[in-house]
Amino acid sequence: MFLYFMFKFNVSFCNHCPLVDRSVERSKGRKRIFDWTSVMKFIGENTEVVGEQSLTPELRLRLFTPSCRFWTERPELWPYEDPYWAIYWPGGQALSRFLLDHPAVCRGQTVLDLGSGCGASAIAAILCGAAHVVANDIDPMAAVATHMNSELNGLQPPVCLTHNIMSLATSLHSWLNRCMETHGTKVLIGDPGRAQFEEHAIRRLLRPLAQFELPDSVREENYGLSCSGVWSYTPEL
Ligand SMILES: C[S@@+](CC[C@H](N)C(=O)[O-])C[C@H]1O[C@@H](n2cnc3c(N)ncnc32)[C@H](O)[C@@H]1O
Repeated sequence: MFLYFMFKFNVSFCNHCPLVDRSVERSKGRKRIFDWTSVMKFIGENTEVVGEQSLTPELRLRLFTPSCRFWTERPELWPYEDPYWAIYWPGGQALSRFLLDHPAVCRGQTVLDLGSGCGASAIAAILCGAAHVVANDIDPMAAVATHMNSELNGLQPPVCLTHNIMSLATSLHSWLNRCMETHGTKVLIGDPGRAQFEEHAIRRLLRPLAQFELPDSVREENYGLSCSGVWSYTPEL
């Protein structure tokens, strides 16, 4: 079994879109009935199909681009939670590139993409022949986006879970260690080497697996971040 991570240390490092720079507080207390069909319609109307400009040009994804209404629209008009799923983050790009370059890593495996957002890494795992893929994100819109993106790539969507499964663990490290000991789980993490990542306690337990230079457009949208990498979690058990 494999676990893939995108840590969410900070929401404000990316300048893709003003929506992800807003305070998360904005959406607290707002209760909406989640209607899959209307969310699908909303995503279809407010994203654009993008390929080429990422580390994985073979994947097509519905994302925010400057030609989407909410790129420039007043953020308070956005009716849902902050749309992390509408951005293909540099860490996820590195992770997906790594999987596609090394299909044996997840071929025949059960894969959990944790913090799956647009679902790119889960989609990469499916393309690599994973036996079972679960995409987990606490935002139910990410599940809809993942379904739409899977279909865009001609694939059956992964199972999408929207529970906060991380909250079931009292400690991230002991949870990961237990997964590794009990199931032989491998844990891969993608991150562009942000300060929050480099300074995190888990960092000393990570072994670098790959480093990728980000395409120019991704650099521009991420305050000049030039590289993104993949690490393997290798604690002494
Ligand atoms: C920086 S985005 C990365 C998305 C995607 N992996 C990518 O690289 O494009 C982090 C994602 O983690 C999700 N997230 C945050 N906390 C989470 C949690 N406790 N469990 C699952 N997902 C979570 C967010 O909703 C967001 O979609």
